[in-house]
Amino acid sequence: MNEKIKKKNILHSGMFNGTLRGWQSLKSGLTAENLMYPVFIIEGDNDVQDIPSMPGVARYGINKLQEHLTGLIAKGLTSILVFGVVDSLPKDDFGTHADSKNNPVIKALPKLRQWFPNLTIACDVCLCPYTSHGHCGILTEKGIINNSASIARIGEIALAYAKAGAHIVAPSDMMDGRIGAIKSRLIESQLQNSVAVLSYTCKFSSIFYGPFRDAAKSKPAFGDRKCYQLPTGSEGIALRAAQRDVEEGADFLMVKPIMAYVDILKQVKNKYPEYPMFVYQVSGEYSMIYQAAEKGIFDLKAGLIEILSSYRRAGADVIITYYTPHLLEWISLKN
Ligand code: PBG
Ligand code: ZN
Repeated sequence: MNEKIKKKNILHSGMFNGTLRGWQSLKSGLTAENLMYPVFIIEGDNDVQDIPSMPGVARYGINKLQEHLTGLIAKGLTSILVFGVVDSLPKDDFGTHADSKNNPVIKALPKLRQWFPNLTIACDVCLCPYTSHGHCGILTEKGIINNSASIARIGEIALAYAKAGAHIVAPSDMMDGRIGAIKSRLIESQLQNSVAVLSYTCKFSSIFYGPFRDAAKSKPAFGDRKCYQLPTGSEGIALRAAQRDVEEGADFLMVKPIMAYVDILKQVKNKYPEYPMFVYQVSGEYSMIYQAAEKGIFDLKAGLIEILSSYRRAGADVIITYYTPHLLEWISLKN
């Protein structure tokens, strides 16, 4: 009775049932529209390959992907992010097969557009899955990045994906000036009002990409990506990257990975509230959470939703996650 609590400091009165708790949490809600699903497309149309470092995730040939996506679209899936993975097409210094007519993404796009007219399709644009050296740009003889040659090539690849049917091109190469180079190519081809550019703006040089490099067969043959991906402890240069990409005409911005960079997300969102913000929960984050749940450390659904809520609260509009199938299932059960 004699508890001395200021009336406005009584918090329990604002959260005693589910509806009230929901009102306290609206900013961190998750719907199907908040999700983008990354998929790996391989050369064999009827093949499915498990990825040992990403349990529960597979690479699909186009016919198997059709089956997989049909089920997810029925549960509300609205967008995907497509990666090509090649085994038999040869890799070379220029990533010739990134946009050749035999590239699995180039071949898949018209089919995906036809089968799924309401699905929004983003394509990752990079050289690393298609170069013999496994780097994300073109190299000089000394083995360092040749930036102007790289962005010319990235622009060409982005245009090829756009022409083949991508709604969104998403360059992950991290070369300087790539957004401007891509926009120029889209304008020249009069695609500027039907193709968007999603920039991997604040992409850090992260240990959490390891499983993806197995999945996409895109490990660098030598060295690392530290001269073009952002330093993991940095902040100022990440904000400058956002400013650069905004100036060059990016439609959407991204922070990647996200778990260790929620502070960067919040700052970029606060600085550019006009731009939808994407975050990429990358392969290592996926597998880490999967393994923890598998070991019984926490319940997958509760743990994942708690984590993803923090990204929504910090300003993420769209979460790119390999957990999209699980999340769609849970969201559809809730409604
Ligand atoms: C390649 C690329 C990477 C990812 C997306 N595009 C890895 C890298 O830079 O090596 C990471 C995705 C993931 O880890 O899930 N440019
Ligand atoms: Zn790359």
